[in-house]
Amino acid sequence: MTKILETNRLILQTWTLADAENLFEICSDAEVMKYLGTGKPYKTLDEAENFLNWAVAYQKENGFCRWAVLEESSGKIIGSCGFARPHGTKEIELGYLFARKVWGKGFATEAAGECLKYGFKKLDFREIIALTDLENVASQRVLEKIGFEKRGIEIYNNEENLVYLAKSNI
Ligand SMILES: CC(C)(COP(=O)(O)OP(=O)(O)OC[C@H]1O[C@@H](n2cnc3c(N)ncnc32)[C@H](O)[C@@H]1OP(=O)(O)O)[C@@H](O)C(=O)NCCC(=O)NCCS
Repeated sequence: MTKILETNRLILQTWTLADAENLFEICSDAEVMKYLGTGKPYKTLDEAENFLNWAVAYQKENGFCRWAVLEESSGKIIGSCGFARPHGTKEIELGYLFARKVWGKGFATEAAGECLKYGFKKLDFREIIALTDLENVASQRVLEKIGFEKRGIEIYNNEENLVYLAKSNI
């Protein structure tokens, strides 16, 4: 794996196929998956492996993806944070998820805030969006804390999303 960036408490790095069990443990929790993708928790290890195959190939092709987030103190993967293009668009979307047992410690704010800076400074993105379920107040709060502004309610992936936008000032 390759280290992408470090924050006070976290390391963001590329995934390897060996991370499947760790990812499965996080994404087999219905609360974590409620507002993501199909809204359903992973039921089999295959689903984690499919994500990892996507992430490894996407990173190779684009130089970014939704990276693994490790807690530096334990060396354990606790979530994911990073970029991808929403299907069928040229936009850049920041996305993240964390294991339920670590919610409420400021990890999402810390990871997403540093990713945003990395996206503007190192990846030269001019604009970054984030898509939130209308009811996902915790995620909306994270975005507002790191400087995103509401763009409005828009359809992505056949669903209404509250879309947030951040612009580079570099
Ligand atoms: C959304 C998520 C990433 C937040 O992670 P986290 O590490 O707990 O986030 P942080 O601790 O950095 O910040 C959460 C903020 O939301 C607030 N919050 C949490 N639940 C809330 C709720 N139900 N209503 C209002 N605010 C809420 C917290 O108080 C905190 O704000 P504060 O610092 O002003 O007190 C996490 O809940 C998660 O993984 N959810 C499932 C996946 C997901 O929804 N991802 C986002 C898709 S857009």
